[in-house]
Amino acid sequence: MPSLTIDGQEVSFDGQPMILQVALDHGLEIPHYCYHPGLSVVASCRICLVEIAAPNPRNENKVELIPKLMPACQTPAADGMVVQSSSPKAVANQKAVMEYLLINHPIDCPVCDQAGECHLQDYSYKHGRGASRFQEDKVKQPKKDIGEHVLLYADRCIMCTRCVRFTREVSGTSEIGVFGRGHTEQIDVFPGRPLENELSGNVVDICPVGALLDKDFLFEQRVWFLGQTASIDPLTASGDSIWIHHNEGRIYRVKPRPNPEVNQWWISDEIRYGWHFVHSEDRLTTPRRMQFGEQIEAGWDRAGAQVEEGLREAAESGPGSLAVMVSPMLTCEEAYLLGRLVRGLDAEAVLVIGPVPVEGEDRTFPGGYRVHAEKCPNRHGVQRALSTLGGEVIDYAAFLERLSDKKSAIKAAVVSGNYPAAWPDGDLVKALGKRFLVVIDTLANDLCAKADVLLPSVTWAEKSGTFENAANRIQAFEQAIDPIESARSEGRIATELLAQCGLSEPTAFDPQAVRREMGGVYLEIEPPPTAPQREGDMQYVAL
Ligand code: SF4
Ligand code: FES
Repeated sequence: MPSLTIDGQEVSFDGQPMILQVALDHGLEIPHYCYHPGLSVVASCRICLVEIAAPNPRNENKVELIPKLMPACQTPAADGMVVQSSSPKAVANQKAVMEYLLINHPIDCPVCDQAGECHLQDYSYKHGRGASRFQEDKVKQPKKDIGEHVLLYADRCIMCTRCVRFTREVSGTSEIGVFGRGHTEQIDVFPGRPLENELSGNVVDICPVGALLDKDFLFEQRVWFLGQTASIDPLTASGDSIWIHHNEGRIYRVKPRPNPEVNQWWISDEIRYGWHFVHSEDRLTTPRRMQFGEQIEAGWDRAGAQVEEGLREAAESGPGSLAVMVSPMLTCEEAYLLGRLVRGLDAEAVLVIGPVPVEGEDRTFPGGYRVHAEKCPNRHGVQRALSTLGGEVIDYAAFLERLSDKKSAIKAAVVSGNYPAAWPDGDLVKALGKRFLVVIDTLANDLCAKADVLLPSVTWAEKSGTFENAANRIQAFEQAIDPIESARSEGRIATELLAQCGLSEPTAFDPQAVRREMGGVYLEIEPPPTAPQREGDMQYVAL
């Protein structure tokens, strides 16, 4: 395999990457602004210039110094090259570029959301001068509301054009452009054409400074207070890799986690901003049980005993008298355990996948990113997990039909929700009739009010597990924050009910142990990555 030396370290590479990408792939830092691995190369910021010595084929392949500095982002790596990003000449260039970029910059880090994860701040510290020689008035640029989610603080822009290239090459919508020339040059949107595409939030991620800011996160937190946890898109069938950024039990934002095989560097706005239901006022927090026709608060033990009593009584009426409807919002492990619970009490219990929300059709953007029409993360996973228990797994429509059939044997049902928005339709409430009903859900709705036992569960951010995406890729994610009040994950609820009903030994819910029990493909699931230092370039590295 060919190799080159970067700042004294020999590194190998495959194919024809640029020098900068080879450095990033090996965790070596060469400062850069305009380069982004998901965008075309323009080599305009000039901070990545390096000294290169390369074998000269016209001189018996002797390694010779190239007389001028070369952009690492635009110079292909070659076998035997020697690259210096910290030679006196390269460092002098870095200092000159930094001084130039800071001439008109307001240097308002104390009030800038990007502070703490800003390339300009980091490079200024590492490669800049301590003091400014600029005496004249700085050019002031206006702050602008350029779209539904994004604000432009043009003063802070360094004209790297990443945002312009993103809207041209990835979203294909071209809302952002470069206007003006010289020191009045600025980024803007065209009059009457705001930044309003489904991927708009990504421009905030790729802006290396604090020029493009997220309205949803504006002044919410200093970034150094945020912890981050590796997770998976909980709202669509994409399986996009994400980071959940959180502090003291609250989510503050969701960012894409680079994954070349799923979402590259991007996520859609619905995934980025869809987490707010986690902190909804309508979250269910305490178990409730029906007593004399009225729901009252209950402890977990009492509620669990009532579930066992109700399910056992129904199961006595014969095979097929129990049903479980597993929501496609649940994890594979939870689906399996809930199925095991009802099958343990009734060997012919009906297994159902809950309603699968679908909006329009799948759409693929010019950059290859796909927005999925299926608005749930784990339909495939629930189907696969329930199938491991044997027998038929029916869909929601078939379940409604069976419930509505006058000869239906179903006497009791366990129904899980965990949808981020209002559900279910009135049909389910009506079709369930007077059957014994256990509802496991996160947000209050009509079905909850009807439940004989209502068990509050948690959102994906409050638990760990696996989702299987539309491409049948099974991926694990970690718990980011603690469960709200006394709510419990569906996995824990099912584990405790299995013990309550004497179907397994009392044990703590452990997704990995459940995967081992499920066997097959579940034995090969890789754990999600642990969070790296959230610093500059490492965010490009696929994890
Ligand atoms: S707004 Fe940000 S991403 Fe766009 S050109 Fe300016 S610095 Fe680059
Ligand atoms: S990163 Fe190479 S010129 Fe900008």
